[in-house]
Amino acid sequence: MKSIKFSNGDSMPIIGLGTWKSKPGEVYQAILWAIESGYRHIDCAAIYDNEKEVGNALQFAFKNGLVTREEMFITSKLWNSNHRLEDVQPALKKTLKDLKLEYLDLYLVHWPVSFKKGVGFAQNREEFFTYNDVPLSQTWEGMEDCKSKGFTKHIGVSNFNIAKLEEIIKSGKQMPEMNQVEMHPFNPQHKLVEYCQSKGIHMTAYSPLGSGDRSASIKKSDEPSLFENQVVMELADKYQVSAAQILIAYSIHRGIVVIPKSVNEGRIKQNLASVEIQFDKEDVEKLSKIDLRYRFIDGSFFTGSKSPYAQQDLWENDNS
Ligand code: A2P
Repeated sequence: MKSIKFSNGDSMPIIGLGTWKSKPGEVYQAILWAIESGYRHIDCAAIYDNEKEVGNALQFAFKNGLVTREEMFITSKLWNSNHRLEDVQPALKKTLKDLKLEYLDLYLVHWPVSFKKGVGFAQNREEFFTYNDVPLSQTWEGMEDCKSKGFTKHIGVSNFNIAKLEEIIKSGKQMPEMNQVEMHPFNPQHKLVEYCQSKGIHMTAYSPLGSGDRSASIKKSDEPSLFENQVVMELADKYQVSAAQILIAYSIHRGIVVIPKSVNEGRIKQNLASVEIQFDKEDVEKLSKIDLRYRFIDGSFFTGSKSPYAQQDLWENDNS
């Protein structure tokens, strides 16, 4: 399995199974299909509300000798309501309990946005903490503690732009080892990729297929389709693979970890097989040039008029 390497020599499989939007009734079977077909990396988060089922599936796999814990790479994420120093470790421990694991391989700060304790999705000003209340440096200190205590082998962030990364790099003792962001040919994030590479921060692409199964409340009616993009379709034809496989292979060819979500056995297998695609160099460039600066997950649910956060707290001004 192709992988990326952390500075301590640990490796992370370049493709993992995404579990955002996988329902509790579906994710158990999806994890087992994934492990049986050769996935060794699962991407989770507390807010996905399915970690218990993921944990049950992992337990089944370990107990029945499908795979060992050491062979698996498991990521999870700290939700926005647990950013205070005293809340970080308990949040990680809850995730470990749900996943029935002793340790995570990677723990990420899910968003650079902070909610008050117990809030799922903040709806009004009173439910948010500001950066004055809970600076990102405080959350990062909590993450460093978790790593030093062995609850997670690696730590990183998600949805962080260059300014936010600089902030925690300046204040922290340890570098973030990963930045997981939305990435695909409509938003290849060239500037952020270049910055992360220059700092030795690995990257993971979420929503590599455009997350068409999002709830209607966070979907626009006129969204462009990655699957129907002309360049993507031409390459699918050229390499005799599906559009989804072109999109997954695009990330792999950039050395960027990719976590397509599926709960369908055939598509779970198909997505893993994308690792085999050998692109001609110019085809990666063709995909990179599409660059519509288009985000499917635009973060506007965290930055409305009732929030202390602005779009610049999430993305660069040119939306890259
Ligand atoms: P399903 O779970 O039924 O397979 P993303 O990873 O960008 O969040 O996208 C997930 C969406 O893409 C889901 O609706 C998922 O549906 C669908 N999907 C996953 N793999 C494929 C594939 N190989 N071809 C088409 N759609 C796919």
